[in-house]
Amino acid sequence: MTQPIKFQTENKTLDLPVLSGSVGPQVVDIRKLYADSGMFTYDPGFTSTAACESAITYIDGDKGILLHRGYPIEQLADHSSFMETAYLLMNGELPTTTQNADFTHTISRHTMIHEQLAMFFRGFRRDAHPMAIMCGVVGALSAFYHDSTDINDPVQRTIASHRLIAKMPTLAAMAYKYSVGQPFLYPDNSLSYTGNFLRMTFGVPAEDYVVDPIIEKALDTIFILHADHEQNASTSTVRLAGSSGANPFACIAAGIACLWGPAHGGANEAALNMLREIGTVDRIPHYIARAKDKDDNFRLMGFGHRVYKNYDPRAKVLQAMAKQVLDKIHVKDPVFDVARELERIALSDDYFISKKLYPNVDFYSGVILNAIGFPTSMFTVLFALARTVGWIAQWNEMIQDPEQKIGRPRQLYTGAPARDYVEIAKRG
Ligand code: CMC
Repeated sequence: MTQPIKFQTENKTLDLPVLSGSVGPQVVDIRKLYADSGMFTYDPGFTSTAACESAITYIDGDKGILLHRGYPIEQLADHSSFMETAYLLMNGELPTTTQNADFTHTISRHTMIHEQLAMFFRGFRRDAHPMAIMCGVVGALSAFYHDSTDINDPVQRTIASHRLIAKMPTLAAMAYKYSVGQPFLYPDNSLSYTGNFLRMTFGVPAEDYVVDPIIEKALDTIFILHADHEQNASTSTVRLAGSSGANPFACIAAGIACLWGPAHGGANEAALNMLREIGTVDRIPHYIARAKDKDDNFRLMGFGHRVYKNYDPRAKVLQAMAKQVLDKIHVKDPVFDVARELERIALSDDYFISKKLYPNVDFYSGVILNAIGFPTSMFTVLFALARTVGWIAQWNEMIQDPEQKIGRPRQLYTGAPARDYVEIAKRG
C-alpha cells in the first residue's frame, strides 16, 4: 500500500490517499480535498486528472501501447474482427464460437431503422455535412425506441446498446446516399457487419453488389482500430452526458458532436483536405514552415497526440495496411505521394522530433478511406460508427459504477466580485 501524499494548506496538513490501478500511473485521490481544505484543483484539458475508474482500455502513451481488456491492439487488428472486438469491449472477454455467432446474429437483427426515420433525412439540405445529419438522426433514435431508454433496466440498456451498434452503419450509409441523391438501400443481414455497410454505401438497387474481401478486411480493421480509446474527449462527453441520467441515444449523439471537431475525429477529414491543398511534393516545405511558425495557427493535421508521445500504435498498423491496400487496389492518386513525403520529412525534422509529433491514426486512415472511395466528408462518420462500440461500453460501465455521480467540474473564477445592480440611466 502506497503512503498517502501530504498536502499542506496554511493551517492544516491533509493526507491524500494514493490509489493504484492494475497497470499505469498511481492516482492521488482528491475527492475530499475541497471538503477538508476549501480548495479546488486546476487542470484545464484534464491532462493530470482521472475522472473515472475503468477496466476497458489501457494506453501507455510513452511506450505506444494500447490494450483493449488487456489485448494489444496489434493482435486484435491482425486476428480479430470488428464484431468480436465489440463483444470484447462490451463484455470483458473474447467470445466463444457460440457467443460470437449469437452476438453477430443479434446485431444483424437490429440493422433496420424505423421507416419514419428516413423522413428525417429528407429534411436536410443535400449538401449538409454527414456529421451534421448524424448528430440529428442518432439523437432522434430516442424518439423511436422508447422501450430501450430506461437506463435503470439492464435489459433495456443491452437492447439500446445493440441497437446503436447495429443501426450506425445503416444511418451512416443513408447520410452518404442522401448526399449523392441515390436511393437508400435496406441492410442485407447475410453479409458481415462491414460488408453490409459497404453494400449500403456503394451498392445501388439496380445491380448486385459484390463485396471486395480486401476492402472489407481493410475497413473492418479500421473499425477495430477506432473502436475505443479510453477517456478521450468524445468518450468523456458521452460519460458526462450519461452522468445526468440522459438516455443512451442522446448520449451517443453528444459523443458524435464532440468527435466532429478537427482536433479529434474531424482530423481524418482535415488531414486529407490538407494533403489535397498541399497538392504536390514540392509544396511540402512551405507547409512544414507554416506548421513551425508560432504566428501561424496552421497545424499538420494527422500529426501529434495528447497521449502518444512516442508513436501511435494504431497508426503503425495502418501505415503497413495503407501500402498493401493501395498496391492491391491499384489506386494512383498524387495525394499518396504527398502523404508519404510529408511523413518522411516530418519524421526527420527537429521541430517534430523534439515535440514528439508523429503521424496519428487519422493520417493513414484518411489515405485508405480515400482509396476505397469514401468522400472526405464521410471519414469522421466512419470514425463515429466504430467508436460507438467504445462509447456504449464506457457508458454501460459508468451506469453500473457504484461511485458514479453527475459530472460537475468546478472553476477558477476570474470575473467581477459581487456588486449592486445599476439602473440603466445611471450607467456611464
Ligand atoms: N502540427 C504542428 N505543431 C503541433 C501539432 C501539429 N499537428 N500538434 C502539436 N503541435 C505543437 C504545438 O504548437 C505545441 O507547440 P508549443 O509547445 O511550441 O506551443 C506543442 O506541439 C504541443 O501541442 P499541444 O496543442 O499543447 O498538444 P495537445 O496534447 O494539447 O494536442 C492534438 C494534441 C492532437 C490536439 C494536437 O497535436 C493537434 O492539434 N494535432 C492535429 C490534429 C489531429 O491530428 N488530431 C487527431 C488526434 S488522434 C485521433 C483522435 O484523438 O481523434
